[in-house]
Amino acid sequence: MSTLFDPFPLRSLSVPHRVWMAPMCQYSAEVSGPETGVANDWHFAHYAARAAGGTGLILLEATAVSPEGRISPADLGLWNDTQAEALGRITRFLKSQGTVPGIQLAHASLRNLQSQPPPPTCTNERAPIRGHWG
Ligand SMILES: Cc1cc2nc3c(=O)[nH]c(=O)nc-3n(C[C@H](O)[C@H](O)[C@H](O)COP(=O)(O)O)c2cc1C
Repeated sequence: MSTLFDPFPLRSLSVPHRVWMAPMCQYSAEVSGPETGVANDWHFAHYAARAAGGTGLILLEATAVSPEGRISPADLGLWNDTQAEALGRITRFLKSQGTVPGIQLAHASLRNLQSQPPPPTCTNERAPIRGHWG
């Protein structure tokens, strides 16, 4: 029987153990301008800390493949090279810690248009999150 700390073989990958991190939106990317959807220092610190803590596999949060596919305006994106480079910085660090990086590619469309997202989380003050907004 496999146990929590046994390696998990997955096709060409071998995840070191079964303590993984689920995708969780940080709502912390710029919402407009050239940095729209680009992973910033908040994202790096957030994921790097979990990798340094020994997480076996980290699935990065829902990451939109086009601007209109974002779940919230502050989602990560992966539709241009700037975004890809910023995600690459995170990926390289995760690998350096022995963590397998993954990403949840997303296209939410109407969900984005119908409601307001929770506020970004990368400030010192956390505003209350308004109920279910999806
Ligand atoms: C702040 C927050 C953001 C989340 N963002 C995502 C997301 O981007 N994609 C997703 O599939 N699930 C998202 N989830 C759901 C989590 O990945 C996870 O499924 C949920 O917290 C239940 O975890 P559990 O199955 O370990 O109880 C989010 C959850 C939280 C609390």
